[in-house]
Amino acid sequence: MTILITGGAGFIGSNFALDWVRTSVEQIVNVDKLTYAGNLSNLDSLRDNHNHVFVRADINDYSVVLNLLQTYKVRAILNFAAESHVDRSIHGPRDFIETNIVGTFNLLEAARAYWGELAEPERQKFRFLHVSTDEVYGTLTAAQPAFTEMNQYQPNSPYAASKAASDHLVRAYCHTYGLPVITTNCSNNYGPYQFPEKLIPLTIHRALSGKELPVYGDGQQVRDWLYVKDHCSALRRVLEVGAVGEVYNIGGNNEKTNLDVVKVICALLDELKPRADRQLYELRVAFVADRPGHDRRYAIDATKLATQISWQPDETFESGIRKTVEWYMGNQAWTEAIVNGEYRTWLEKQYGNTLS
Ligand code: NAD
Ligand code: TYD
Repeated sequence: MTILITGGAGFIGSNFALDWVRTSVEQIVNVDKLTYAGNLSNLDSLRDNHNHVFVRADINDYSVVLNLLQTYKVRAILNFAAESHVDRSIHGPRDFIETNIVGTFNLLEAARAYWGELAEPERQKFRFLHVSTDEVYGTLTAAQPAFTEMNQYQPNSPYAASKAASDHLVRAYCHTYGLPVITTNCSNNYGPYQFPEKLIPLTIHRALSGKELPVYGDGQQVRDWLYVKDHCSALRRVLEVGAVGEVYNIGGNNEKTNLDVVKVICALLDELKPRADRQLYELRVAFVADRPGHDRRYAIDATKLATQISWQPDETFESGIRKTVEWYMGNQAWTEAIVNGEYRTWLEKQYGNTLS
């Protein structure tokens, strides 16, 4: 049998594909449109591996997706494909609607057609695992408890709203058609191969390049960070033993303010690659205009995952962020290959000419 993932040239999907091939003998078909966020070089080490099949395609292409499901006799789909950057969704939400909502709908339709034709026991064993975010739950005050699976959906950004809509479609396909779906809602990920528009790789790259480190507003917004390999291990576990129709929150109990995250990265760089002028990296922090509608705090209660399917993360924030900083230091060519034309245009759009 074979699993099919979408968005597997992006940050989390490529980590998932690399880990899958390392830990399983089962074939993986990887469907990715290769948007600005997709990067085939993440998958370089799988180039000659027959267990990994890469297909450049849009999840909105129904006939391509259905054909792949049939050809490879797929037993599970994991849907990573998305437009994933909140700031880009504020500047231009259309692609988020097209991929995150319509694309998920299209994938569900292809899955429904394929699954409807399966004979038992394949039909019963089939899974559609939808990879989603904690941002669908909206924002928390400092005093509120962390998000559980019972929290109301209150998405605040176009990105979060598009993911919330996709989660609702996935749920409806289970309730109405019986499609065996599972949804996961994960907190902020960090680790190797993350596109350097997101806080952690952006900070590492800019610090190493001697540039200012933009922090939105007062920097006191809180995110709950999970090392990407731990997200991938949770997904493998959910795929293996998760119950159909269930939702699982995934998180690592690592709430940090953005300013603290930036300071931790700076302190690691002070240790690993001191500035030539012997100044602290942290002196390059620049407070910039806040994100419109910026969610103040996300926090995940992952009790259900721990108690019902016995999953725990391997990394603490301290161990994971050290690995991450070391990875970006050792793979500067990976980042350098990205920070060209389109990336520069994005920086100007998002930060104007205020940063040095
Ligand atoms: P990413 O932006 O790094 O990668 C997305 C990938 O999807 C890219 O390779 C892109 O080319 C591909 N893609 C986009 N549109 C497509 C389309 N129409 N058809 C086929 N492929 C398409 O995103 P990521 O950070 O790896 O996130 C993966 C998933 O995990 C997303 O669904 C996201 O909502 C979810 N998630 C992310 C985080 C996080 O912190 N990054 C946290 C929780 C959940
Ligand atoms: P980001 O990595 O974009 O993830 P998300 O918006 O999905 O949480 O941002 C993480 C946090 O860091 C978020 O609160 C916004 C903040 N941030 C900055 O302060 N400066 C930046 O330059 C960026 C990109 C993000």
